[in-house]
Amino acid sequence: MSMFITFEGPEGSGKSTVMQAVAPRLERPLITTREPGGIRISEAIRDLLLSDDYSMDARTEALLFAASRRQHLVEKVQPALDAGQIVLCDRFIDSSLAYQGYARGIGVEEIMSVNQFAIENYMPDLTLYLKVPPEIGLARIMDNQRETNRLDNESLAFHQRVYDGYNDLADTYERIVTIDATRPIDEVIEDAYQVIIKKLG
Ligand SMILES: Nc1ncnc2c1ncn2[C@@H]1O[C@H](COP(=O)(O)OP(=O)(O)O)[C@@H](O)[C@H]1O
Ligand SMILES: [Mg+2]
Repeated sequence: MSMFITFEGPEGSGKSTVMQAVAPRLERPLITTREPGGIRISEAIRDLLLSDDYSMDARTEALLFAASRRQHLVEKVQPALDAGQIVLCDRFIDSSLAYQGYARGIGVEEIMSVNQFAIENYMPDLTLYLKVPPEIGLARIMDNQRETNRLDNESLAFHQRVYDGYNDLADTYERIVTIDATRPIDEVIEDAYQVIIKKLG
């Protein structure tokens, strides 16, 4: 049975770690992928978006994310779903709503309409929101000396707005399940696994 599952949350919330840990445990046909990226055009757009070499208008940024999302969806996500696979995707529409809609201040309605043009009716069936306050997420990526990108380098106030935005979205949409990602990683992985298994039925 196909199912479109997305992982959301700020940088350092554990999206990549949890997704990679849960995938093999599901023991079903699935693909894992990420946004922005996952395919050639979208990885090229990702490089533009995350590079420190450019500064860009907030709406340009929102459109590039949506363009990247569109191509990734038609080239990779839709075919996998059509083939009956589970798709686990690191970030999707809620990232745009939180980062561009809330944190950049464009507004959720505006970002939603651009994204509806991009994705038509392909909304996730289930979204795991890994909830951590921005100080904790940012400290994790600094501790692990992972390379930071243009968005990571925004102010703490920006990341606080991303966090508030995600919390609002989680209150609004039934498909979003919130997981307390401040706990030890094994517990977060176990919770995520249980939520997915329950949804798969
Ligand atoms: N619950 C957790 N407790 C402690 N460290 C964590 C936890 N979740 C993730 N980490 C660490 O934080 C860093 C960022 O995790 P990652 O999965 O890359 O987050 P994301 O993909 O959301 O940015 C990694 O070094 C990871 O090991
Ligand atoms: Mg990641």
